[in-house]
Amino acid sequence: MSQYQFGVIGLAVMGRGLALNLAEHGFSVAGYNLEPEMTQAFVAEGLRQGYSVAGAPSCQELCQMLERPRKILIMVKAGAPVDSVLDSLLPWLESGDVVIDGGNTHYPHTHARQDRCGAKGVHFLGMGVSGGEDGARHGPALMPGGSREAYRLVEPFLTAIAAHVDGQPCCAYNGPAGAGHFVKMVHNGIEYGDMQLICEAYYLMKRLLGLSAGEIAQYFQEWNKGELSSYLVEITAHILTVEDPGTGAPLVDKILGEAGSKGTGMWTVQEALSQGVPLPTIAQAVFARDLSCSSGVRARMSQQSSPAAAPAIADRAAFAEQIRRALYASKLCSYAQGFDLLSRAGKAYGWNLDLGGIALLFRGGCIIRASFLNQLARVYRAQPELENLLLDASFAQVLEDYQQDWRQVVASAVRNSVAVPAFAASLSYYDGLRDPEGPLNLLQAQRDCFGAHTFRRTDREGVFHHPWNG
Ligand code: 6PG
Repeated sequence: MSQYQFGVIGLAVMGRGLALNLAEHGFSVAGYNLEPEMTQAFVAEGLRQGYSVAGAPSCQELCQMLERPRKILIMVKAGAPVDSVLDSLLPWLESGDVVIDGGNTHYPHTHARQDRCGAKGVHFLGMGVSGGEDGARHGPALMPGGSREAYRLVEPFLTAIAAHVDGQPCCAYNGPAGAGHFVKMVHNGIEYGDMQLICEAYYLMKRLLGLSAGEIAQYFQEWNKGELSSYLVEITAHILTVEDPGTGAPLVDKILGEAGSKGTGMWTVQEALSQGVPLPTIAQAVFARDLSCSSGVRARMSQQSSPAAAPAIADRAAFAEQIRRALYASKLCSYAQGFDLLSRAGKAYGWNLDLGGIALLFRGGCIIRASFLNQLARVYRAQPELENLLLDASFAQVLEDYQQDWRQVVASAVRNSVAVPAFAASLSYYDGLRDPEGPLNLLQAQRDCFGAHTFRRTDREGVFHHPWNG
């Protein structure tokens, strides 16, 4: 009866894709889903492809069908469903078995589940999976974390199904405890930043240059051939060319501008706040989604005053190039923030995350895959202790070269009432980091004035308090 090499629980889009991906790579896979129709659909699809697959009617029977030590991937909605799967599964597991949670779980929950499974000698890995439906089926980026011993047992399976770039799998062990889910969380924060920045570039071309969706698509297609080459720019170019079947208009023009979120961006910003890591671009990306959902206030405020008329920009191609540069410069700042969080939180948790290795694994399969990650990986490989990405000479030079265009784009947006929260946040991050003085000497004086919070001086060592009020 024990014959299948891998078990997958949860056979919706992501689980089914990963299970079929495993089977396609020659592994025998047994699947189980709470709704039996989903299990049947997976088995039918697998058999149709000639794979070695089977369905189980329960967790108990799934466990009986698997080779020891069992290797089971859980792909259910993050949160309570993971615990209820563990409730059904744990009674049938034995010491040495490996359970992987591949959902978008908040990493502290992974710690708790590791403790729960560990009490029975069962290994629990938390693994970030990125790439959506297509990635799951044909090659995702995988970010496992937990016990290294457990990772060794599942490594051949995971590296086989992951996306590959230059012959290397986009899968690497990130560290103990919830390190894998932590890396996936920050990946998503960076994803939020990238998406918001692209949207701001699109909207500047729409509002300030008066370009149609089709015309903007051509710019994104062009940009995708250069330093901005990435999955998100590629799908943006495509999306902008898709027509609404009902009206023939660009479909994007018919979509309500209210964006949803499932929480991973918010967790990234919450983590940054608690670690004291400045993450303004990504925070603005989260807030922009929140603001977009304030539909009542937006409707009323838009009636109070109308936005400025679009300016006459004579050389549209030149302005579009300035937007491209502003987008790339802003993106660099966003990655500097995300990697700073990985570095500092990784140290705080004792994980010492390998930033170069993470950049390498982000190159394929995942939503933020981009050619620029090759350069980022090279930078961290050469300088693993680099305190901030913007300190690297090659990236610093790009910002130096692009900053005038970047400033002009942000200034034009401000003058013409176009909100560019992420472009502006990136620019202020850059300016803030480069200014050795800044205004917060005054803030520290205010704190000392009303609360005797003390201050340090520029001309002498020590901690001081001044009797400001006499
Ligand atoms: C990925 C994505 C994915 C995430 C969606 C939705 O890496 O494949 O990050 O895991 O669930 O992008 O996220 P939001 O609903 O929060 O936008």
